[in-house]
Amino acid sequence: MYSTGYHDKGTPKVAGDNDVRNVTLEIDGQTITVPEGTSIMRAAALGDVNIPKLCATDTLKAFGSCRLCLVEIEGRRGFPASCTTLVADGLKVTTESPKLTALRRSVMELYLSDHPADCGSTSASRRCELHEMAGKLGVTESRYSLGGTQHLQSAKDESNPYFTFDQSECIVCSRCVRACDEVQGTFALTIQGRGFSSKVSASQNESFLASECVSCGACVEACPTGALGEKSLIQLGVPNKVTTTTCAYCGVGCSFNAESKDGEVVRMAPNRDGHANHGHACVKGRFAYGYATHGDRITTPMIRKSIDDPWQQVSWDEAIGHAASEFRRIQTKYGRDSIGGITSSRCTNEETFLVQKLVRAAFGNNNVDTCARVCHSPTGYGLKNTIGESAGTQAFDSVMKADVIVVVGANPTEGHPVFASQMKRRLRQGAKLIVIDPREIALVKTPHITADYHLPLRPGTNVALFNSLAHVVVTEGLTKDDYVADRCEVDSYDKWKAFVAEARNSPENTAASTGVKPELVRAVARLYATAGNGAIYYGLGVTEHSQGSTMVMCIANLAMATGNVGREGVGINPLRGQNNVQGSCDMGSFPHEFSGYRHVSDDATRTLFEKDWGVSLLAEPGLRIPNMFEAALDGSFMGMYIQGEDPAQSDPDTQHVTAAFKAMECVVVQDLFLNETAKYAHVFLPGSSFLEKDGTFTNAERRVSRVRKVMEPRAGFADWEVTMLLSNALGYPMHYRHPSEIMDEISRLTPTFGAFSYEKLDRLGSIQWPCTTEAPDGTPTMHVDHFVRGKGKFFVTEFVPTSERATRRYPLLLTTGRILSQYNVGAQTRRTMNTTWAAADVLEIHPHDAETRGIKTGDMVGLTSRSGEIVLPADVTDRVRPGVVYTTFHFPESGANVVTTENSDWATNCPEYKVTAVEIVKVTHPSAWQKRFHEFTEQQLRLLKGREATHA
Ligand code: SF4
Ligand code: SF4
Ligand code: SF4
Ligand code: FES
Repeated sequence: MYSTGYHDKGTPKVAGDNDVRNVTLEIDGQTITVPEGTSIMRAAALGDVNIPKLCATDTLKAFGSCRLCLVEIEGRRGFPASCTTLVADGLKVTTESPKLTALRRSVMELYLSDHPADCGSTSASRRCELHEMAGKLGVTESRYSLGGTQHLQSAKDESNPYFTFDQSECIVCSRCVRACDEVQGTFALTIQGRGFSSKVSASQNESFLASECVSCGACVEACPTGALGEKSLIQLGVPNKVTTTTCAYCGVGCSFNAESKDGEVVRMAPNRDGHANHGHACVKGRFAYGYATHGDRITTPMIRKSIDDPWQQVSWDEAIGHAASEFRRIQTKYGRDSIGGITSSRCTNEETFLVQKLVRAAFGNNNVDTCARVCHSPTGYGLKNTIGESAGTQAFDSVMKADVIVVVGANPTEGHPVFASQMKRRLRQGAKLIVIDPREIALVKTPHITADYHLPLRPGTNVALFNSLAHVVVTEGLTKDDYVADRCEVDSYDKWKAFVAEARNSPENTAASTGVKPELVRAVARLYATAGNGAIYYGLGVTEHSQGSTMVMCIANLAMATGNVGREGVGINPLRGQNNVQGSCDMGSFPHEFSGYRHVSDDATRTLFEKDWGVSLLAEPGLRIPNMFEAALDGSFMGMYIQGEDPAQSDPDTQHVTAAFKAMECVVVQDLFLNETAKYAHVFLPGSSFLEKDGTFTNAERRVSRVRKVMEPRAGFADWEVTMLLSNALGYPMHYRHPSEIMDEISRLTPTFGAFSYEKLDRLGSIQWPCTTEAPDGTPTMHVDHFVRGKGKFFVTEFVPTSERATRRYPLLLTTGRILSQYNVGAQTRRTMNTTWAAADVLEIHPHDAETRGIKTGDMVGLTSRSGEIVLPADVTDRVRPGVVYTTFHFPESGANVVTTENSDWATNCPEYKVTAVEIVKVTHPSAWQKRFHEFTEQQLRLLKGREATHA
């Protein structure tokens, strides 16, 4: 029978168990000491005494329904359930006796009487704890089987693309219901009916697909029988290898046990020991890994003379040789600085480090940048300048100590779902919630949670709003002056205070810009400042603005002034989008910085790298991505190496970007698929998925976790090996035998990784940098006694409205975001069954704006900005406020970035994706292509509307 091999201790660990008093008791003669509040079942399991159980599992609170875990306690009457009975000093517990065995056997016979004898477990590909327990108890038959009414003919629900629900195997233990409530926080399942008629029901007796279920898989993971089971496990059979690795989708960085059979993934099981996810997952990491073996994968290198020629398959030697000779030819003709590279936030730290090393050491310039330029570069700038480190201040677990949670410009349930589940747990415990977003994101009203405040500000007015929050805090005397005096530059504080106290920054005076009622702003400022522990979580709705860096400073100013940095439960927490966007920044991907955010002009740092790398390095920063494109159009930048990115789809103002690519003479794209950028490439080098390599990713909480190879690279090489080949062909030798050797180099050249090694990582599971001799096991909370920069620095944050404003011609503001089932440009998720939930981008329009234009849900609408025009289907909803339209950017067909403008953050050039002035019109005569697109999206819109109707 299939087994996960995990030792389930039955009930969860006691929260904060290090601070809890210990209790000593005796279980089957063995003396056991555990934290107070531990169940007898868990205490026994810790002593390797495994009491039979069915309704208990250590990710869920004890429920006490199956009566299999009964024990005897000296001096107490009856047979208490060990999962719901807590330890106490001096207890003497017996877990095995003839009486207990008789009771358990009797209970087991009742279960078996209504469970298929030949359930999935007998095919060896399904786990069934019921049969496992029956085996342990020696029960093979049931006295109650004959003649009784049974559920064995119940219909299966196969609606979810990834898992089945077979009621005939269900023992109504409620583990799935509790997992959906407690772990995921979606509350999609109930037990309907009573007694014999009780059964698991999704929403109001719907199929799983039609219900609120978000396909996170928590119920499947919790199910002790095969009633809820992965289809892949049923199809592919028992895995024969388990590899612990890290999800390659979002910045939560969930840990998984990849269960594989002969090199093929059978199941991605969330790792209960994972420090970022504690055994939870979302639909992407848990199920959407099929892209790795998709038929669209390109596994042979290709070259072509011009982008109008067909691709020619060639050997690795020829492709690498061609790319290297072209780069050298271009440098000879146009100069050393005429080529550059883009590192990937999807690739590993080691791969990113190698690409920036290739650019600096082999290309001989600093023309390296990363896609973080277009998402979180303002985080780096804003946090480095105010508190001294370009990263979030907390661990995810810190949220469990927050009293007030501020979510600004982020949509965690869609973009960072596993962290959102943890945040929702804290909110259900009573923490207050403030949402600052133009759109009514799901968190504003979700089962058992209603935001205390939602400030639906106008896109582009974050800075004005935060200045007004600061105004209230300062003018009402809510600042923590002792904290500031102790930790911050007092001059800067005084200047900032004087600035925000000006009347023009009052909520009453900024309301005309922000559109937010002054009394709401005042209430929110008071709540955050007097919270006890106030924690701010933010996303791209903060950074992707012309004042992105200013807004990050606004957040840091407010957090410092209210004393909300430097301990658990508080902090400034950027929710990073891609799996390794933190890592790609840490590893020196920006043109002005080496790894660890040290400027290239710093002589001591540069000398360190020069000695290690055996080359002389430039002291001047290189070109940023937008500058590379500008230079290409000017004729001075002619070659680019792009690893694992798709700027032709992900960067703003697509026409400008593609014109720049067309102007280049050698574009080398390294990717899994022929992406949009590959249309402009001359060399295509096959990439490797996260399942095909070793390395590390760094998540949004600075947590570095191992990526481990599950299958051999389909094209023969992992991405880090391809970069080495290119470097060697360029005449700069690289000879690493394993990514651990690259990490050793990172460690010796980067102070924040000074005490880091693979050996330590394997031992500890994951490590949050800084990992130094002073903090050898890593640093969960930063800035504890003082800020990394010494004294925290306040910055005056003048609000400068974006030039992108609603006008008579373009009266609406377009803002963009993500959805749960798709990921970024969709290259991976579009090639999985996740298209069941979202097969196209749709445009959300407020009913008022829709009505005045005669637009209904499902209509195709043309959307025009001063940069371009796109067509996509409408979804009329009051999730957006009047005057604002919203779409995602996961599908090349809709080309959302065709309409975004060239506006960018003043400090970092991060594009202003979140504000584009547009007009929309109903398309009355769609083209043939648009009709096909429409049909494509109809099903999705039906699903969307159906759900809204159900849950209204
Ligand atoms: S589906 Fe599984 S977890 Fe849910 S009640 Fe049935 S047996 Fe228990
Ligand atoms: S998959 Fe997740 S959301 Fe869906 S029912 Fe199960 S636990 Fe709930
Ligand atoms: S929350 Fe993010 S890291 Fe975790 S499984 Fe989902 S996509 Fe992967
Ligand atoms: S495991 Fe304790 S009652 Fe079910």
